[in-house]
Amino acid sequence: MDAYHTGEWSNDAIASGRQKYLSPSLATFTAYQRPLVLKRGEGQYVWDSEGNRYLDCLAQNLCISVGYAHKAVNEAVMAQMAQIQHVTTMYYHDKPVAFAERLLGKFPEEDWVIHFVNSGAEAIDIATLVARLYTGNHDILTLRSAYHGMHFGTMSATGLALCHQPLPASPGFVQVANPDQYRGIFGKGVEPYVAEIANTVDTATPGRIAGMIIEPIQGYGGVIPMPAGYMKHAAQTVRAAGGLLIADEVQTGFGRTGKGFWGFEAHDVTPDIVVMSKGIGNGFPLAATVMRRDIAASMAERKFFNTYGSNPMACAAGLAVLDVIESEGLQDNAARVGALFEAGMRRVAEKYAAIGDVRGSGLMLGLEFVSDRAEKAPDDAKADAVQEGLRERGVIVGRSGRFKNVLRINPPLCVDENDAAFFENALDDTLTSLTH
Ligand SMILES: Cc1ncc(COP(=O)(O)O)c(C=O)c1O
Repeated sequence: MDAYHTGEWSNDAIASGRQKYLSPSLATFTAYQRPLVLKRGEGQYVWDSEGNRYLDCLAQNLCISVGYAHKAVNEAVMAQMAQIQHVTTMYYHDKPVAFAERLLGKFPEEDWVIHFVNSGAEAIDIATLVARLYTGNHDILTLRSAYHGMHFGTMSATGLALCHQPLPASPGFVQVANPDQYRGIFGKGVEPYVAEIANTVDTATPGRIAGMIIEPIQGYGGVIPMPAGYMKHAAQTVRAAGGLLIADEVQTGFGRTGKGFWGFEAHDVTPDIVVMSKGIGNGFPLAATVMRRDIAASMAERKFFNTYGSNPMACAAGLAVLDVIESEGLQDNAARVGALFEAGMRRVAEKYAAIGDVRGSGLMLGLEFVSDRAEKAPDDAKADAVQEGLRERGVIVGRSGRFKNVLRINPPLCVDENDAAFFENALDDTLTSLTH
């Protein structure tokens, strides 16, 4: 019998079994040269099959918000599972209602409603559908380097070639220059990027649009924060063209940026639609599209059903996540400990010219590697080597960006000052070993 059947956790057996039985499409996104087989998680740490502990600064792509195996979340889910594990949306249940009420309490005063689904791409899909129905327009603007998912529609919304299958894209998505303050095509500043939105509406659309999707900090695009003023002015331009502002808070929501419960709160703007996932369920498949009631109503003319949306176990997890973020002060922790991580990264950046930029907010941080600081030549080989070196020193980070040269540091929100110091030492040590 194969080792993965006996529970012996042979890494080779798992790797060859994955290659044999799982689709080759999964092999397009693996983290390390040598497979990392994870066995257990607790708080901000994971243990691999050989018993090595890692500080997880990727948190399963930011899904683990309040910490692995959090007792309150696990107990809430287990209690719900013991009662009834699934109730589809054609029946009624208390958990989606209770969770929606609590979640909407995190929004500025408006008549909001929630549509629960299972993944970020689905939630983006609902947002684009409803924006089109409500406005009567079709085109949706997105930004270069944006990441909104990889399903057929969302693939077209995503601004990274790596994520586009070579097929005619889903129609009605138009890309706009990204206000990247480090390597954006108009350099620093906000005005030229806002003007580019109006130019795009005037040239690439019928002059009326359904909306624009913006991540307050682009995540997989390379941790690129929207500069102050951009979202607000983008919203004005988009609304003038008949469209809606859609905030993609899949990564920035749930207190991660430390500046607000939602990323948009730092931008003096209230979106018309907000998409969320990942941290919402601490790893449970759960996502949501929050929108004003009048906008959502435009989807009510026809039937809509998806089998697992509003699953009560997922909603129980979501409720518990909100409790934990509040009771453990995790948004403040993200601000406080995130500042320690960032300060450590800046100290290391002073020592090594390979780090071209340190950026982000709270516990959504990025380190951009370059082979020449003045030229800003992307150095994905260095980013790769640092990611591997950090693994050897017990730290997991992600790699992202158009040039794959940005390391993402997005640990669970429960990290502390010891973790920040551990990370700084590991980064420093890795860069020393690569330099000498
Ligand atoms: C900002 C953002 N939007 C949407 C998505 C798509 O989410 P999912 O992978 O659950 O489809 C992601 C996933 O990484 C994301 O980071």
